[in-house]
Order: sequence, then C-alpha cells, then structure tokens
Amino acid sequence: MPAIAVIGAQWGDEAKGKIVHHLSRGARMCVRFNGGANAGHTVEDRLGTARLHLVPSGALHPGCLGVLGHGVVLDPWALQEELAALWAQGRPEPALLLSERAHLVLPHHRAREGEAAGRLGTTRRGIGPAYEDRAARRGLRLADLADPLSVRDHLARMGTESVGEVAEDLARFYAQFSDRIGDARSAIAAALAARETVVFEGAQGTLLDLDLGTYPYVTSSATTVHGIGWGTGVRVALDRVVGVTKAYTTRVGEGPFPTEETGEVGAWLRERGREYGATTGRPRRCGWLDLVALRYAHAVNGFTELALTKLDVLAGLDEVKVCVAYRIGGHRTDRFPARAEELAAAEPEYVALPAWEGPLRDVRDWGGLPREAQRFVRWIEEGVGVPVSLVGTGPGEGAVIDRGRG
Ligand code: IMP
Repeated sequence: MPAIAVIGAQWGDEAKGKIVHHLSRGARMCVRFNGGANAGHTVEDRLGTARLHLVPSGALHPGCLGVLGHGVVLDPWALQEELAALWAQGRPEPALLLSERAHLVLPHHRAREGEAAGRLGTTRRGIGPAYEDRAARRGLRLADLADPLSVRDHLARMGTESVGEVAEDLARFYAQFSDRIGDARSAIAAALAARETVVFEGAQGTLLDLDLGTYPYVTSSATTVHGIGWGTGVRVALDRVVGVTKAYTTRVGEGPFPTEETGEVGAWLRERGREYGATTGRPRRCGWLDLVALRYAHAVNGFTELALTKLDVLAGLDEVKVCVAYRIGGHRTDRFPARAEELAAAEPEYVALPAWEGPLRDVRDWGGLPREAQRFVRWIEEGVGVPVSLVGTGPGEGAVIDRGRG
C-alpha cells in the first residue's frame, strides 16, 4: 500500500509516533509535512525510548528516508540536539532530506513567543512566530543558508541578539547538512510514481489545526490530511488515511475540552497513561473519549481506518464512558462548534460501557482481548463509521494488534 497518511484525530499526543513506526516498516520514506519541534513523537524499541521532535518516526528504520517537507518549520539547533540524543542511544544516524523551501525557527522566534505562550499555552518552541514571519514574507529558508552574508543581514534586521554567534551556528549547520537539503517535493513525487511506500506523518492533531481546530487554541500549521498538499507540494492519491485516537482524550495547553475529567478519573488516566508532555513535560489534561469530536475529525479527514491507542490504560476502571452527543444551550447536538466559547459551553452526554481487566500489553491478536474491550472497540467503529485496524495495547513497539486491513 504505497501512500499512507497518519493523522491525529484529537488534540495531539495520540501516540502517532508508535503507529507511524509500525506502518513504516519496509517503507521507502516517512514524511513530516507540518509543525516543527513542538511535536513530540515517542517510539519505544529494543534500543530504548526515542523522543522525536523533527526526525520522522519511520526514519528510525534503516532504509527509510526521513523527509521534512516545506510545511515544516525547522529549528537547526533542535535537530542537532535530537540527532545527538539518537546517537547517544547507539542508533545509526537516520537518513534525512530537508526541503530547501522549509523555513527556519530562529532565536528571535522563541524570544517573541512570550505573550501567546501564556494566553494559549503553547510549547514555547517559536513555532507561531516562525509561521508568522513565513506568512509575512520575511522568513529565512534553508536554501538561504547558501549565502552567509544575506543570513547576517537577515538576523540583524530581525533584531537578533549576538548576530555573529547565531550566523556561525547556521554556517556550521549548513556545512554539515547541505548535502541533505534539497528538492523534497520531487523526491516524494518520484517515490510515489515508483509505487514505493511513503508514510506521511502528521504532527499535532485535527483539533489543533489552524483553521479546522478549536481556534484560537490551536497550532499555526495544517495538521489534517489537507496539510499533506500544503506542506509538500505533491498531489498525493492516498491509499490509506489512518486516524489515530487514544481510547480516551487528552489536551495540553489552554482551550475548550468538553469531556475533561478533573477528579479521580482524570488523575487515573494521567498516571496510568503517563500523560505528561513529551516536549514540555507539562501534565496533560485528561478525559473520556469524545465521539462528537471524533466524527468531526473523520468528516474533515475521510479516514479509511482508525488506530485506537492506549486501550490498556482503561483496564481496571469500574466503567468506561464515551461521549455520544453534546448539549449546548439546552439542545442536543452532534455538531462540533466552530466557536471556542460554544464548545466550552457544551455538556457531554455519555454512554457507560463495562470495563475490563488488564494487563493487555502481551495481547497480540484480536481474539486475545477481553470481550468487554472488544465491545468498546466495536462501539467506536459503529459510532464513527470507520473500522479500527490497529489497537495499541502498551507502550512498546510490539504492543499493537494489527487487524490486517493494510
Ligand atoms: P504551539 O504549536 O507551540 O504554537 O502551541 C499551540 C497549541 O498546540 C498549544 O495548546 C500546545 O500545547 C499545542 N501543541 C503543539 N504541539 C503539540 C503536540 O505535539 N501535542 C499536543 N499539543 C501540542
């Protein structure tokens, strides 16, 4: 199956890294098309836990090229740190191709982020300001690093402190990476034309999309399946669009979250699910699965299948709840509102399902799941109208039930 998109169906942190890693086995390429080092994709394999921010998760497989499309904003310091951490784990250096058209995240972007960071709870990685400069047509792109004098001019114009130091860092980065900076669009198009397997790895999730998410509590890029064209310049005929959702919901930062649980259940999910930000370490807000939001994500992306992750975390609860509709202003609705204020006023209507006992981490096939867990999965399939092809049963790379729809 050559062209596969893996898209977050919630507010990010759906364990996409694990799913992308699983689906990229044998792939020619794994492509990031949006976001930057605000993403935190975790892959646990025999070499340890890799925390990826810019390196595509599939690129941990030897033979799978990691491509950063022009929709990614690239922080050269973050990329070097990440590669050093992978090297320290004894991993081979991932093969990379960085789009020459990708914009850089520079120190002044991080410095400028203060206000939005507080109001929106951003990751403070300079992502918003970098995309702002891009839209205002004053950004610096990877291709520009070929001309050190114009880099210095640019840094001075943008009010960078210690221009000399930053310019030197960028020159060193360019010397080291210039052979990996190039025409990512053509490379992706050629791989697809040759019917090689290409996995597109979405960062963040549908509900954090700049336009389709819970604006203004969103990130600054296109996080949905539509971001693939936006961030690569390739018109891709996708064979699979895999929506990744946890068996419950989490959110980091500010913004409406109808099914949030601030009491015992929230604490259970946070501790059992290790729900602390991979990028910022912040505790994530936790709550029940929201089928209104999930149906909306399906409507936006046209999922061909779902990957349901972290099913093991719910094991041992008394009951498992799923939100099936909202009440807004006294009316029952399954519309996902555009206004954050309206979503904040939505009261979830729940259905409670019987829970199951764990652990599930050693379950490798569908038949091995407790009957109640199977019922929960079927309930989601019916509620969203999309088959669940992958089920995550634990953090390790093998802890996934692949129902073989690929
Ligand atoms: P920014 O992307 O740093 O501008 O942050 C904007 C919003 O997106 C904040 O609520 C962040 O917490 C959220 N966000 C950004 N990246 C991720 C991610 O990878 N996972 C979850 N939330 C994210």
